[in-house]
Amino acid sequence: MVIAFGSFFLFSVSSLAVISFALSDNHGEFIYNGFNGASLHLAGIANIQPHGLLQLTNTSNRQIGRAFFQFPIEFNTSYSFSTSFVFAFVRKSQDYFGHGMAFVISPSTDFSHAVASEYLGLFNISNDGASANHVLAVEFDCVLSPEFKDIDNNHVGIDVNNLTSIESTSVSFYSNGERKNRRLELMSGEPIRAWIDYVEDEKLLNVTVAPVRCPKPNYPLLSKSIDLSKILLDTMYVGFSAATGAVASNHYVLGWSFNRSGEAESLKIAELPHLPKEKIAQIGIKELVLYKVIMLLIVLIFLGTICGAAYLFWRNKYGEVREEWEKEFGPQRFSYKTLYKATKGFKDKDLLGEGGFGKVYRGTLQSSNEEIAVKRVRHKHDSGEGMKQFVSEIVSMRRLRHRNLVRLLGYSRRKGELLLVYDYMPQGSLDKFLFTDEKPSLNWPQRFQILRGVASALLYLHEEWEQVVLHRDIKASNILLDSELNGKIADFGLARLHDRGSSSKTTLLVGTLGYMAPELTRTGKANMSTDVFAFGALLLEVACGRKPIEPQGLPEEVGRGLCCGGNGAGFEIRPTMLPPRSGN
Ligand SMILES: *[C@@H]1O[C@H](CO)[C@@H](O)[C@H](O)[C@H]1NC(C)=O
Ligand SMILES: *[C@@H]1O[C@H](CO)[C@@H](O)[C@H](O)[C@H]1NC(C)=O
Ligand SMILES: *[C@@H]1O[C@H](CO)[C@@H](O)[C@H](O)[C@H]1NC(C)=O
Ligand SMILES: *[C@@H]1O[C@H](CO)[C@@H](O)[C@H](O)[C@H]1NC(C)=O
Ligand SMILES: *[C@@H]1O[C@H](CO)[C@@H](O)[C@H](O)[C@H]1NC(C)=O
Ligand SMILES: *[C@@H]1O[C@H](CO)[C@@H](O)[C@H](O)[C@H]1NC(C)=O
Repeated sequence: MVIAFGSFFLFSVSSLAVISFALSDNHGEFIYNGFNGASLHLAGIANIQPHGLLQLTNTSNRQIGRAFFQFPIEFNTSYSFSTSFVFAFVRKSQDYFGHGMAFVISPSTDFSHAVASEYLGLFNISNDGASANHVLAVEFDCVLSPEFKDIDNNHVGIDVNNLTSIESTSVSFYSNGERKNRRLELMSGEPIRAWIDYVEDEKLLNVTVAPVRCPKPNYPLLSKSIDLSKILLDTMYVGFSAATGAVASNHYVLGWSFNRSGEAESLKIAELPHLPKEKIAQIGIKELVLYKVIMLLIVLIFLGTICGAAYLFWRNKYGEVREEWEKEFGPQRFSYKTLYKATKGFKDKDLLGEGGFGKVYRGTLQSSNEEIAVKRVRHKHDSGEGMKQFVSEIVSMRRLRHRNLVRLLGYSRRKGELLLVYDYMPQGSLDKFLFTDEKPSLNWPQRFQILRGVASALLYLHEEWEQVVLHRDIKASNILLDSELNGKIADFGLARLHDRGSSSKTTLLVGTLGYMAPELTRTGKANMSTDVFAFGALLLEVACGRKPIEPQGLPEEVGRGLCCGGNGAGFEIRPTMLPPRSGN
């Protein structure tokens, strides 16, 4: 029961608050914080929206909207009055805007002959300026109309029977805090509060404006000495008139208070209705759909670009060449990504060496923690029979098993590049031990062990496997050493494979000067004997610690003899008899 009574009480209070007009027996004062239930006479397209917003015009062209307080005000005792209201002009997005709104005191609410546009719905061309009008208006005008001597397109003016203002000024307000005038845009779309005061004794009409959140400025925008008794009649209506023309805006009034007996009560800003969110409301359904589609397209294009860039980046970084025929080599095939990760991106600091075929990098397979060496062999032909044959030869060499051969683990392919994966040999190549100070010198038993290992591997390649594998480039830098200093032949098979029994048909000269048998440089035909000749040169190299060829001529002479057969000028073959380097 108590609860029921309580809620009834609350209901009554809130409905009173909404219909907040006062003292219907005294029409000299009223206050509307929002216009729900207000006693207004509406004309033209003016309407009160469900949440209490008074809309005078919308954005249709050449429209008029008027709203007057329903009851006449008696001015027979005094002409003093005070009024305050909050209004907002909201334009259609980005369009031109106009025309404006006026606060009006008029003997009648009948403006049926008035026209829109610059006349603001107040007069027409024949009655503008007629003293019989008895109209006082304060205009808030957004269009410069030269026929009325308007000063700009953002002004406030005091009009008496005539749209040519007797006093006007650009819109600004005195900021009490900053103690200076600040410009205000009528078309900002933000609510603006206005005060219009007239005190009969002073005969001063003051007009003041400010943004809705600001207090009333200490100084009015317009202060005009004027005798209203000469203009107004005893009984007058008060209200607003707004008009649109070839340009249009929404003209809204959010709240209004009026007082004849004292200063108009301040409006309660928090209770005022909200302005509609015009930008979205103004965009039609079609435009909204179009807008969304365009946004979606932009987002898709953006995402597509990112994905494309990511794909290109990935392909550039990890992309590889993989062909149908390689399926059978599946287990031997490493993905480029695996090798890239294993070598941490083929950094220079992991470069083990650089030979005739390409650079060799050190790496660690992430899956097994196994140390590997990756040789990157550059080539011109990406696909076709030649490549297929080469890859299958290389892969078949995986089956070569000998403790003195560097084990081939597999391969990978990229555009213009073949990657061969080998066991990593921690001690590096034999020439480092023989010819540089980086490594300690080898003693005789170590040298012998290395040579014996190389010899047995060479025998295996030549005679013990199902095919003859010619190495064609036996030399110290192609002999790698494991941790126990066992010599292992590297790079076998990069020169071609040969079937047992048939001699080479290759004419391309492969090999290194100083290790090449004399007949090889003449005929260009490699065979087992030419490999053995090279091994002989290696024997001497290991025994004496000197290179088979040491250039002694002038630089321009050096190189003339390269690969042209015989012992070219500028080179001297120094066989055998020099002692090994010191330390042994
Ligand atoms: C403006 O109001 C009039 C009358 O209510 C209506 O016919 C017209 O469609 C409205 N225009 C817009 C742009 O909302
Ligand atoms: C003013 O006019 C009203 C209505 O016409 C009337 O009741 C009132 O007595 C008048 N007051 C004066 C001071 O004339
Ligand atoms: C202007 O308005 C007056 C009434 O206020 C009317 O008598 C007159 O015909 C109108 N003139 C035009 C041109 O509409
Ligand atoms: C309107 O007011 C202006 C300025 O006061 C004046 O020059 C003009 O003659 C007036 N118009 C009429 C028709 O009286
Ligand atoms: C109007 O403004 C003038 C100048 O600031 C001021 O002296 C006067 O008191 C004001 N009158 C009213 C009614 O506010
Ligand atoms: C009108 O002024 C009187 C005297 O200052 C005040 O008591 C009253 O609340 C005011 N009413 C309105 C609606 O402004």
